[in-house]
Amino acid sequence: VTFRNAGPQRLRAVVRTGLLRGLRVFGARRGYEGLIADDILELESGDVSNIIHRGGTILHAARCPGFMEVSGRTAAADSLRGRGIEGLVVIGGDGSFRGASLLSREQGVQVIGVPGTIDNDLWGCDRTIGFDTAVNTAIEAIDRVKDTASAHDRLFIIEVMGRHTGFLALEAGIAVGAEAVMVPETPTDLGSVCRTVRNRIDSGRTGNILVVAEGDEAGNAVTMARKLREEHGIESHVTILGHVQRGGSPTASDRVLATRLGWAAVEALLDGASPCIVGEVDNEVVRHPLADSWTRKKELDPFLIRLSEELD
Ligand code: F6P
Repeated sequence: VTFRNAGPQRLRAVVRTGLLRGLRVFGARRGYEGLIADDILELESGDVSNIIHRGGTILHAARCPGFMEVSGRTAAADSLRGRGIEGLVVIGGDGSFRGASLLSREQGVQVIGVPGTIDNDLWGCDRTIGFDTAVNTAIEAIDRVKDTASAHDRLFIIEVMGRHTGFLALEAGIAVGAEAVMVPETPTDLGSVCRTVRNRIDSGRTGNILVVAEGDEAGNAVTMARKLREEHGIESHVTILGHVQRGGSPTASDRVLATRLGWAAVEALLDGASPCIVGEVDNEVVRHPLADSWTRKKELDPFLIRLSEELD
């Protein structure tokens, strides 16, 4: 069993479940890079002690261009076979699962995917592991900014992560009562955002917050601040939350989700399941074909979009 982007709780659950079921468990350092370089270590129960409350990953993570080549995937499969490893658990996002699908198709490796990304943009699960922690981290930070926004009567544009998707922006925006939430999936009408802000200022309401996903089609927070000033004569302050959202102690909900899905991944391996993603849908653990997780598009909840638009 090997990992990419293995957050501590998921890693812990996979290792402990595997050992409980009589398997030997291995971890690849730096994900696919470790597989290609045969940088693989055997993991025992004690190796995952006292990590459930930590962010990051004890195995380290890396983007791995080499895995996009057939030669890289062949080397990875050779490493696995050379050590007698019969199944692979990949923890990550769409890029990881795309690579895992190819590895499975070309090399016949049994692969199970565990969805882990703060973007929540994987089809086949209601929530990805890490998303809840990132939303909570973002709202804690935005609440703090709101204090200055209302005390000093300022408009803030807060940029959250989400290069291609707005799940994080939408939930954080609703949770802090933002005046507008701007996401890549829906067209951003800056004129209408300005009217909302002006109406609030005119009616004496202080402290305005706009939440924007970094990948919004109208631009990131810095671009928007410039457009508001140059095109609409509105001054604003920019706060970019950045990688703050990718660290820190996971929420209870993420810890439990990771534990459930780590367990489910090992069960799927033992069942001999064909390449799949394990995910929680309506509170049940389900399996979907691995390729669906990155070829199908998970949509934002239209009801949440409506709430964010109507309840500013
Ligand atoms: O995939 C999660 C994500 O947080 C995106 O929202 C963001 O754009 C990207 O990762 C940043 O990745 P990196 O740290 O490699 O720049």
